[in-house]
Amino acid sequence: MQHKAIGIFDSGIGGTSIWKEIASAMPHENTIYLADSKYAPYGKRSKEEILELSKKNTEKLLELNCKIIVVACNTATTNAIKVLREQYDVPFIGIEPAIKPAAIYTKTKKIGVLATKGTLSSELFSQTSDLYTQNIEVIEVIGSGLVELIEEDKINSNEMDILLRSYIEPMIRKNIDYLVLGCSHYPYLIPNLKNILSDDVVIIDSGEAVARQTKSILTANNLVNPNPNKGSHTFYSNADIKTLRNILSKGNTSPIISALDF
Ligand code: DGL
Repeated sequence: MQHKAIGIFDSGIGGTSIWKEIASAMPHENTIYLADSKYAPYGKRSKEEILELSKKNTEKLLELNCKIIVVACNTATTNAIKVLREQYDVPFIGIEPAIKPAAIYTKTKKIGVLATKGTLSSELFSQTSDLYTQNIEVIEVIGSGLVELIEEDKINSNEMDILLRSYIEPMIRKNIDYLVLGCSHYPYLIPNLKNILSDDVVIIDSGEAVARQTKSILTANNLVNPNPNKGSHTFYSNADIKTLRNILSKGNTSPIISALDF
């Protein structure tokens, strides 16, 4: 059981930002990543569709013999993780917009949250937001089109710059001092965001916290891999693997990247 892989899925390549944190926090673990790019973006889909896709990915990861599943997608976590936990007998780790630290540390009492429509309209998000943001103004913005451009390998395009400015500038005018990235694709936009935001605005993403949580759940369940060697990393995409390859080529691991129909 301990030698089995950590399974990770996202609607596309965005969850690789979470995978990077996991691989660096637990270098001896094997990982299997599913990029469900064929069905991206999830953010525009109904709750029922997001749940069906999440189940499909979970079943594929279980078939591939994974010991734990990381839902590296805010949209899938906020809409489906409760049901996944009820239906499958394996530990699940999810990712949610990190509103809590932003709400604790904001001085201007105004925080921005950039996420998908699916995440911002979910019950789980509104519960978390209500819990931590009393007396704080939360400026929620749907990042329509951002996931598509990242999936199309257009991170540094003019189109991306224009779109991102249209979402961030209204937040700047409201005087936010924290920007919460509520989508696992968005950490790839941090260099772009830094060009738009002043140095006083702190950008928060949840990648490190998810890796820490994964480690602690593996430990609590006696699932840590005792392997002394470096883990192996396999990536599957059900669409063109080019973007996945590009995004992973920047790291220093040698992942196996293949096409798979799922
Ligand atoms: N990476 C997904 C998330 O964290 C993107 C959602 C989408 O496909 O719209 O929400």
